[in-house]
Amino acid sequence: MSVKIEFESGLSKEEKYIELVPRIISLIDDEKDFIANISNITSALKFSFNDFLWVGFYFKDGDELVLGPFQGKPACTRIVVGKGVCGTAALRKETIIVEDVNKFPRHIFCDSDSKSEIVIPVIKDGELKAVLDIDSGEYGSFDNTDKKHLEDLILRISKIF
Ligand code: SME
Repeated sequence: MSVKIEFESGLSKEEKYIELVPRIISLIDDEKDFIANISNITSALKFSFNDFLWVGFYFKDGDELVLGPFQGKPACTRIVVGKGVCGTAALRKETIIVEDVNKFPRHIFCDSDSKSEIVIPVIKDGELKAVLDIDSGEYGSFDNTDKKHLEDLILRISKIF
């Protein structure tokens, strides 16, 4: 089983999320393997939105985050909790949207084409398990529509962590 990433033309970002999130949920309801599911989620997100440059998970590993399945160019393997956008979202346990990565002093550059970013923490039973990191090749790609639908997706998949 896979996730369908074709949409009718002309759909808004919100309409795409409304179609995509249930497709992803049905994928993880049908497949028990964690890595298979996490990998397909990163791919489904990356290839559903043209401006998404890099989509991946970092898993909590002590005081660090370690790179998990992703789609995009090779990335930093470890990020200290509290550093970078990922580490800051992990520390605060809240979503961070960066409209222009050049203006976020703690941003860690993995790909010089990255212009904006959103990081959503994965929390299960009150404990941080991972973060979902998405980089865009355009400035200001992410807004409250992405935050709302990505937080909903993460909440619904958090049981598999
Ligand atoms: N920009 C991230 C680092 C990870 S890469 O973007 C894949 C950060 O500042 O935490």
